[in-house]
Amino acid sequence: MRVIVCKDYNEMSEKAFEVMKDVITKNPKAVLGLATGSSPEGLYKCMVRDHEENGTSYQDITTYNLDEYVGLPKNHPESYYTFMHKNLFDHIDIKEENTHLPSGSTQEEADAYEKQWDAVTCDLQLLGIGRNGHIGFNEPGTPFAQTTHIVDLTPSTIEANSRFFDHDINKVPKQAISMGIGSILKAKKILLVASGAEKADAVKAMIEGPATESCPASALQKHDDVVVVLDQAAAAGLDR
Ligand code: GLP
Repeated sequence: MRVIVCKDYNEMSEKAFEVMKDVITKNPKAVLGLATGSSPEGLYKCMVRDHEENGTSYQDITTYNLDEYVGLPKNHPESYYTFMHKNLFDHIDIKEENTHLPSGSTQEEADAYEKQWDAVTCDLQLLGIGRNGHIGFNEPGTPFAQTTHIVDLTPSTIEANSRFFDHDINKVPKQAISMGIGSILKAKKILLVASGAEKADAVKAMIEGPATESCPASALQKHDDVVVVLDQAAAAGLDR
């Protein structure tokens, strides 16, 4: 893993953008795996700014998102479909038909998404990390070989995500459809961004701990092209 430590969230976003820009410049038809959450928002802002100022085009880019809540209508303000449109897709020239998000509540629907994913080669998979080390919605204990699946969210994730649902855990969906760790590891390159002190333990376990199912992100140690971009607070626990 290549680990880049930045002074703050903005620098983290700019550094992550450099990695993203390099991929899309080398391959304007790149396939991107995208993530939601506050971690990649700054990177998406950089992509939008670059599109507006430099005309970088996404016309031939294809995207696949990692995950989506089960049971929220597509146009719900907190659906990941809405997040992606609001933060990125509505502000660049990507074609709607080239954007993909998983949806549904059954394993058949999850398998169908994995089949689409298997039909392409992802050039760059972007990830955030949960406070408990989850990637996508792969909670601790998820086998590393897992493909797209329906997930029961842990109490810690429901609590963390309640900030988007009026701080009311009863409003947070209890399940999600998520690419698995096995799906994520199929990407050619992986870019993980993390910021803030509440991520420091998960970041340390991911990078310095053993590769174990109790920290899903530690599976990335098994991939040979991973770039981790951190701010100082998220990197604070590292032995370096
Ligand atoms: C969410 C998402 C993950 C995301 C993580 C961290 O539950 N499913 O894909 O990486 O939690 O979110 P944030 O970046 O807002 O801290």
